[in-house]
Amino acid sequence: MEAVPPDPAARAAELRRLIAYHAERYFRDDAPEIPDADYDALVAELRAIEREHPELASPSSPTALVGAPPSPAFAEVRHAVPMMSLDNAFSLEELEAWGERLARLLAAAGGEGTGAPASPEQVRLVCEPKIDGLACSIRYEAGRLVQAATRGNGTVGEDVTANVRTVRDVPERLALPPEEVPAVLEVRGEIYIALADFEELNRRQAAAGERTFANPRNSAAGSLRQKDPKVTASRPLSFWGYQLGEVDGGVAGPGGTSLRTHLDCLELIRRAGLPVNPEIVAVTGLEQAYAACRAIEQRRHDLGYEVDGVVVKVDDLALRASLGSTSHAPRWAIAYKFPPEERTTLLEDILVSIGRTGRATPFAKLSPVVISGSTVSLATLHNEDQVRAKDVRPGDTVIVRKAGDVIPEVRGPVLSARPPGSVPWSFPRTCPACGAPLVRLAGESDTYCVNADCPAQRVQRIVHFASRPAMDVEGLGEQRVTQLVGLGMLRDAADLYDLEPGRLAGLEGFGEVSAANLIRALEASKARGLARLLVGLSVRHVGPVVASLLAASFDDLDQLRRAGEAELAAIDGVGPTIAASIVSFFALPANAELVERLRAAGVSLASDRPRGAPAQRQTLAGRSVVVTGTLERFSREEAEEAIAARGGKSPASVSAKTYALVVGADPGAAKLSRAAAAGVPVLDEEGFVHLLETGELA
Ligand code: IVH
Repeated sequence: MEAVPPDPAARAAELRRLIAYHAERYFRDDAPEIPDADYDALVAELRAIEREHPELASPSSPTALVGAPPSPAFAEVRHAVPMMSLDNAFSLEELEAWGERLARLLAAAGGEGTGAPASPEQVRLVCEPKIDGLACSIRYEAGRLVQAATRGNGTVGEDVTANVRTVRDVPERLALPPEEVPAVLEVRGEIYIALADFEELNRRQAAAGERTFANPRNSAAGSLRQKDPKVTASRPLSFWGYQLGEVDGGVAGPGGTSLRTHLDCLELIRRAGLPVNPEIVAVTGLEQAYAACRAIEQRRHDLGYEVDGVVVKVDDLALRASLGSTSHAPRWAIAYKFPPEERTTLLEDILVSIGRTGRATPFAKLSPVVISGSTVSLATLHNEDQVRAKDVRPGDTVIVRKAGDVIPEVRGPVLSARPPGSVPWSFPRTCPACGAPLVRLAGESDTYCVNADCPAQRVQRIVHFASRPAMDVEGLGEQRVTQLVGLGMLRDAADLYDLEPGRLAGLEGFGEVSAANLIRALEASKARGLARLLVGLSVRHVGPVVASLLAASFDDLDQLRRAGEAELAAIDGVGPTIAASIVSFFALPANAELVERLRAAGVSLASDRPRGAPAQRQTLAGRSVVVTGTLERFSREEAEEAIAARGGKSPASVSAKTYALVVGADPGAAKLSRAAAAGVPVLDEEGFVHLLETGELA
């Protein structure tokens, strides 16, 4: 939170400078530097100062203006009916506050011919997804498209007629019967790019060595505002109509036309052959409008295009006229904005975590920021190349994105906010846990701590040993393992079976009951059998699927170890790489010794399934499960193997036939949006494990 500014005049001036700068990036360059939510927050802060200190308000303040002046690169179009902006409500409470204002205005406006309902509960409202694209006014005269313009500053926009003619959704002629064609009809709506089209466009741009776009809104705006309509024609632009401008030389509504309500207008747009969004709903009263807003919000990721809120509009056009407008926005409508999925925050530091294989993964330590309803303070940066590509540096203000339940991601720095003298981050040369050198092999993207004795690796190996797909020791997570390794009570997995309840019970965070529970869970884990034990040992390339194949081929670990590389490689689904990895694992004396200690502790080394039995229950027989992004417990290969071993398929792309989409870190947006569009259930890693086990969507 910002501290209370000591000098409101200075802060207002600073905010105006910032807003002007970012408005230029957004409106002029179609390349914003900060998320919309951060921009909205600057405007909201300025508005609050101007409310407190009316002497600081001015008609030229960005709070009183719409959009931005048209670019001189385009001819100017003066709008016959101004294209206004909308006031925002950033929470359901603010939406309700608008509702209360509306109810008061309605009470004051009541009377014959005003369209005012007897009571605010009876007011007809229309709720529309707020499409995140750019507004466009398309003018038809005698049924033919004659002009199209952007909003510009609301009074004067940019002439984009030739470009709009290339948009497939926009007809050259209105599809109305001749007797119904108005002399003038201005259809207003949003030019946008659907998510799947956006992905495809960025792929094409990258392949051609051209600039890629940060998000669908920028790509739509950048594609429409082109000097050469041929470029626009090559871009996948779409359109939703949601408003009328000039109609027949007048304004839709009370005066000249037969249009009485907003729904009449939408129906005319639709019949004229322009698309109208199918999610639009008409409701009665504010309570129903709030419910409709929540319903659209819940579906926002299922729509296949970006929606950043819901516009609530009074339906009756006569009532609209009597409610009127402020300098920049009508009183008869409000934009309820969804909680942001992107915010900026301070990148406090870039740290490196060490995994069980020694992989060193850089991650961002962030000043906590609330995004998509949860507080984010850490985000993975994946590897050295990713940090370099994003060029994020400690001290940077960075854009963080978290869409729904997806793992948070650092998108990049806000360069204009970079502190002077900052230098690119470089990968540490030594392991933060043990001080041994970190090694990156030529041709690989990952960096490793190669010290097998590294305490961080020990912790992660033990955590993995105890994890659900392995020995499934309940109540033994990273925190407890770190504590026990730190106290010198654990060095490897075999030490777990030497833990004594008496010693545990005295430790911080343990009581007698939790100590006894842990010992009981460890005792139970001894009988898990060969497949899970193999998973728990962290043999490279041996995940749950390969482990099951091995367990179905051998009676016990001893027999497996006696098998040579060739015999292992001959097992269906194993192959030479995995075979070599298994042989070299057991060739290491430390690993052989670990196995002996586990045996001595009473851990079963025997296969728990009959020879040649199917490795897995066929929980996914005939089903397609697509995986996107990085999972924590499975490599991509392991995840696909796990699906295949259960009778399922894992195709590369999502279709209507896909049973589920499994989403890890850094997922592909195209897969997400296709899943959304096709109504395919989306699972996180927990859900995936459950699906593998049961075949059910949790
Ligand atoms: S109505 C006077 N309806 O939001 C009312 N606007 O901040 C004019 N937008 O410039 C706008 N979806 O770019 C309206 N269903 C919708 C909308 C919508 C997106 C955009 C539009 C407008 C901005 C207002």
